[in-house]
Amino acid sequence: KAAMEAGLLSPSQPSIILTQDDLKKIAAYKAVEYVKSGMVIGLGTGSTAKHAVARIGELLRQGKLKDIVGIPTSKMTHEQALSVGIPLSDLDSHPVIDIAIDGADEVDPYLNLVKGRGGSLLREKMVEGVCKKFLVIVDESKLVNYIGDSGLAMPVEVIQFCWKFTASKLQKLFEESGCEAKLRTFGEKKEPFVTDNGNYIIDLYFKESIGDLKVASDSILNLAGVVEHGIFLDMATTVIIAGELGLTVKNK
Ligand code: 5RP
Repeated sequence: KAAMEAGLLSPSQPSIILTQDDLKKIAAYKAVEYVKSGMVIGLGTGSTAKHAVARIGELLRQGKLKDIVGIPTSKMTHEQALSVGIPLSDLDSHPVIDIAIDGADEVDPYLNLVKGRGGSLLREKMVEGVCKKFLVIVDESKLVNYIGDSGLAMPVEVIQFCWKFTASKLQKLFEESGCEAKLRTFGEKKEPFVTDNGNYIIDLYFKESIGDLKVASDSILNLAGVVEHGIFLDMATTVIIAGELGLTVKNK
């Protein structure tokens, strides 16, 4: 049913092999069902969230949603939302958000998240921290047993000034977890990736669990030079997971 609604299946083509992007779209479409006219909506960033932004734009154009205000979490989402006709504002004018919809890089069994592999973690945390409902949309590949379990990057946004010093402090902090701290770069020339806020990202890779997440979060934030990190503790209210066998909705 969800795949039908996302336009991926039709009565004349009742079965296909769903790609990972199809699963992201299905989760996104399900989340947009929670959006009602008149709401202020936090608009996430990434390849999953972009389907939600596109769907909200489509419903606005069809007149099925009205008077929506979007609060984008990145310059990229800002551009996309404008291109699909979503009226935009910001936290200064709309400090309370009804619903935010965003993807995630990892989701643990308690609905804690890793976010920011797309580089937008700071604005995401600001926007998603003030919403009444935070809907996370993922395909099932994002589910982990514990935060850091994927072995992939745990992003930390740092100021550019003496970033090597900050990176070495971060690595030292998680020495016992076999942490490796690497500056995020892009392109053949391996230039530093610069966030929408003009900062760098240090990606942390762990060999072992980082233990208590609150302790880890506090100790990262305690380091001068750190702006924010990608551990989203106790923020998600609902996680919508699209898998080969269907949709699962987990509520906090
Ligand atoms: C960007 C994010 C994204 O939500 C996260 O990286 C998931 O991205 P995708 O939906 O492309 O897998 O946190 O900063």
